[in-house]
Amino acid sequence: MKKTPEEHAARFDEIASEYDESNSEEYRACANLVIEHAAPDADDIVLDIGTGTGAIALALAPDAGRVVGRDISEGMMDEARAKADEQGLENVEFGEGMFRDPDYDGPVDVVTSNFAMHHLSDEEKREAIAVIADLEPRRFVLGDVMFFGEPDPSDPFYSPEVDDPATVGVLADAFTDAGFSLTAVERVHDQVGVLVAERGPASVEGESQ
Ligand SMILES: C[S@@+](CC[C@H](N)C(=O)[O-])C[C@H]1O[C@@H](n2cnc3c(N)ncnc32)[C@H](O)[C@@H]1O
Repeated sequence: MKKTPEEHAARFDEIASEYDESNSEEYRACANLVIEHAAPDADDIVLDIGTGTGAIALALAPDAGRVVGRDISEGMMDEARAKADEQGLENVEFGEGMFRDPDYDGPVDVVTSNFAMHHLSDEEKREAIAVIADLEPRRFVLGDVMFFGEPDPSDPFYSPEVDDPATVGVLADAFTDAGFSLTAVERVHDQVGVLVAERGPASVEGESQ
């Protein structure tokens, strides 16, 4: 992590009111893929981490039982809450929580995250994925800045002073080490992609395969 959570929170608090107007075509493509792959059932509980102004959480709420958004920036979540009110969405809530400590211990069916985990170092991403695996979702859809090859330093998809994207390989290892299987890899751009990770039902000890 190149900045502390407090520094990231302050940075996002400052830009929260303009955030929705400032996004790239690749960001939108990535968000749409996250929404499409999340595909919650009508009674599913979705946990969206790094929820920001609620792009993913609010889009999934009409199709899910309940959506819980977690972020470190109250400014970003205030925007999300205002949009939820405007849209009359009553099954979505936003509160403070971090990747490695989402401050949520209820049941979760689907976890989503879009354009947020790249703020963590690779080791922190591994810890976050392990923490999320312990919540036992059946699916985790991660859209983010991630490297499919050698990143082009002149490309705008990350700011080296604040962002710390992983390679797809590092993320794939972290998911499989945490007990997930990757079921889809979507490349939006050399440095932007979506990974879909799924877990089967917990195996019963002693059960033959
Ligand atoms: C680029 S915004 C993406 C917001 C939203 N997911 C979207 O698709 O528009 C990144 C968000 O991640 C949040 N964030 C950064 N570090 C975080 C952490 N360690 N835990 C939770 N959220 C974090 C920021 O506050 C910010 O709201």
